[in-house]
Formats: sequence, C-alpha cells, structure tokens
Amino acid sequence: MAKDRKRVIYLCEQCGNSFPKWNGRCLECGSWNSLVEKKIEEQTLAINGQHGGYALGSEPITRLSDIDSLVVERWSTSSSELDRVLGGGLVIGSTVLLGGDPGVGKSTLLLQVLCHLSQKHKVVYVSGEESLQQIAMRARRLALPEDQLLLLAETCLERIFERLNEEQPTVVAIDSVQTIFTEQVASAPGGSGQIRECAAKLVRYAKQKQIALFIVGHVTKEGSLAGPRILEHVVDSVLYFEGEQDSRFRIIRAVKNRFGAVNELGIFVMSDRGLKEVLNPSAIFLANQGEASAGSSTMVIWEGSRALLVEIQALVDESYLSNPRRIAVGFDSNRLVLLLAVLNRHGHITTYNRDVFVNVVGGLRVNETAVDLPLILAIVSSINSRPLPRNLISFGEVGLSGEIRPVPNGQERIKVAIKQGFNWILLPKANMPKELPDSRVVTLVAVAHLSEVLTKLAKLTEITAV
Ligand code: TYD
Ligand code: MG
Repeated sequence: MAKDRKRVIYLCEQCGNSFPKWNGRCLECGSWNSLVEKKIEEQTLAINGQHGGYALGSEPITRLSDIDSLVVERWSTSSSELDRVLGGGLVIGSTVLLGGDPGVGKSTLLLQVLCHLSQKHKVVYVSGEESLQQIAMRARRLALPEDQLLLLAETCLERIFERLNEEQPTVVAIDSVQTIFTEQVASAPGGSGQIRECAAKLVRYAKQKQIALFIVGHVTKEGSLAGPRILEHVVDSVLYFEGEQDSRFRIIRAVKNRFGAVNELGIFVMSDRGLKEVLNPSAIFLANQGEASAGSSTMVIWEGSRALLVEIQALVDESYLSNPRRIAVGFDSNRLVLLLAVLNRHGHITTYNRDVFVNVVGGLRVNETAVDLPLILAIVSSINSRPLPRNLISFGEVGLSGEIRPVPNGQERIKVAIKQGFNWILLPKANMPKELPDSRVVTLVAVAHLSEVLTKLAKLTEITAV
C-alpha cells in the first residue's frame, strides 16, 4: 500500500472535534452543518495526532536527571509591568497569547513593546487587521522608536512563513490569529479549525527557529467567540487584558505561564499617548475622597505579589420580582448568593425580598475570598443606609458556618492599608499579627464570627459618629 496515502477526516468548525464520517450535525457539540473535510497524511497523523504537539520525529526515552537544565534567556520588553506578568521578561522560543476584548488595547501595547524590542533585536510585526499606514500613523503619534521595526501585512500563513524565512527574525507578532488562514484547511479565517491549525503551525515554527512569538486573539466577555480559549494549551503563556472601555485602567493578567508564576497583574492606564504603566498601583482603584456613601466598602486584595486597595459597592433594594435579582460585576455571582445565605442564617439579615447588586470599582475582576468580609460590610451598610467610616478597611473570608477565616499575606495587607492612611482595619482573628502596630496610628479589630462582625460594626459606626 502506498505510504503517502491521504486520509480524510471531518473537522467540526465550532468545537474542533474530528470524525471519520461526515454528518449533518456534530455529534459532540450538536451544531448543524459545521463539519468540513480535511485531508491529512497518515504519517503525520500517527506522530502528531491532530494537535501537532512540540515533539517531532521519534526521540529516545531519557532519564530526567540526565537532562541538562536550560538557563532560559529573558529579554526585557521595556515595560516593567509586562515583564512582571511574563515572569521577568520575554523568553526566547516561547509563545505568548495576548487575549482580550476588541478595542481594549492589545495592538497598542504590542506596537509599543515591539518598537522598543526592535532597537536590539530583529522584530517582524505581522498585521492582518490594520494597514501598514495605520500602524505607522499610530507609532508616530505615540512617538515610538519606529526606525527598526519590520512590518508585514499578510494573512496567509504559508506566505507569512516564506517572508519570515527570508528575514530570519528573533521576535514575531501575529495580530490577530482570527485573521490568519492556512491553505491546508478549507474554511474561512476565524473558524476554530483554522485557528487551531494556524496556532499549532506557528508554535512549531517558533520552537524550531527559537523565535519569541506573540499571538493576539480577540475574546468577548462571555467567551462566546471561543477562538483564543482553544489555544490555551498550545502556547507557553496566556495573558488576558481586562478593563472596561469607559475606564482608563487596563489590567493584564497571566492565566498560564510555563516560565513564571500566574496571577501576577500588570496595570496600565490608557492615555492619549498609548498605554502607560502604573508603577505604584496600590491606591488607584480607590474612589476620590468625597463624602462616604452607604453601600461602599474598601478592601485590600492580594494580586500576584502585591496588595491593591479596591472599593466594592453594594446596592440592596426592595424587589418586586418573584425571583429577586443578584447581579455582580467583577465578582462571582454564585459566591454572592452564598454570602447572602450566610448573612441570612448567621447574621439574621434577610434579602429574600430584595434585589442585590454588587460592583467592583475600576473594572477590576476579583477572584479572591478575602473579598467576602468587605462585601458583607457593603451589603449591611446599604441595607441600613448608613455609610461605613471612610477610614475603615477590611479583608477576610467568610465560611458557611459564619466563621471569619484567615487569608494569605495578612501582614502585607495591613502594611499597605496603614501606608494609605486607613486607621481602622477589620480582619480575621487568625490574621492578627504578633507584633501590633502603633495603636495611635491604627486600630486592628479582630473578628472570628459573623455575629461579632455585626456587633463590632455597630460600635464602630457609633465611634465615628461621635
Ligand atoms: P487597540 O490597541 O487598537 O485595541 P485592540 O487591538 O485590542 O483591538 O486599541 C484601541 C483603543 O485604544 C481605541 O479605542 C482608542 C484607544 N487608544 C487611546 O485611547 N490612546 C492611544 O494612544 C491609542 C493608541 C489608542
Ligand atoms: Mg488590534
């Protein structure tokens, strides 16, 4: 039998699963008319599977201790915030996926970083979205060092590789993966079959040629345009851009990093001169120091390796619905429901006939359990229509039996809060430091149970009222 026999498989454009036979409906995700034919060589199928992993050809099995460990070389991207998120700089031969909503600033950041990198390295920026003139205009407006950056406006992957082979760059950026297509897949650019195949080829190319590769991918808030999500396992690092369109702040979060820690945050502010880094961000999410308002509470959260002071707001209002609303922006709404149940059972504060809305100020998304206690304070404050003292800050997890549980990095949180001038700190008893800070500067109020929180809160609001 001929060795180069081609096999045909049918790939679902929606979910990316493959089937040996054509079907009107995908058996995995149930979408109609989504299967497309794909020719695949038996040999490559046997070695790589459909994903085309890093391992090429047959390698012998090696003992772990016999392998020399690699000293990874890192290049600074010229942005210390981005370097921090990458784990200390850009690693040669690694692939970074930069995801985020359209318009959040991915191309802007990339252009800034590439212009600076191109001063020392050979950099090619492949744009399938903007024309070369648009990119040049932006670079000039932002006054970037543009003289060394190489640009390519191309969307066909095979032709991109041809050009890259001629230039032999060391850094390549693809903006965006949704616009690139390979001739080997017979579907439109942006489909999951195309995205998967293009990304696998790009990653393989980057590893072989030891290129640092940036891939930009658009994601919508609901994740409905699931494109970049299916790439997460192929690339080395996944960075997501967060931030509301109407807020100036942009946050970059690492959700996967093979060369560093995850959950580091990089904080930028979008200005008329591009993205500027915020080097001392602990207090940027605090509202301006006006009158204290009911339903607003300040918390200290821990992100990656630093503390941020953030305001969380709650609005509890009478509901006329049979199913009152629980809406949370920047916070997990399931956890909100859980906390309301704890508040009902252990604090005897009912919300079954009330709508509850929660918002984390500044477009930040908070996943930490240390938010529980400040959120409860905000809810109680909104229900009573009594503002919390402006100089009160809190952190702590609330358990299902109403206990206040400790959270990591208590000491550092306290330090940052004191530095920002807060003089009442409500915290879990187990987070009380052994050496108490100067009581003239700050009073630490330790709590172990929700009932204690409510009584201490009543006292505290009296104290400040006097
Ligand atoms: P862009 O980087 O094109 O977004 P993406 O590539 O993620 O789709 O960002 C575009 C937005 O950023 C646009 O709405 C305008 C804003 N912006 C500024 O506010 N200042 C600037 O200096 C630049 C370059 C863009
Ligand atoms: Mg763009």
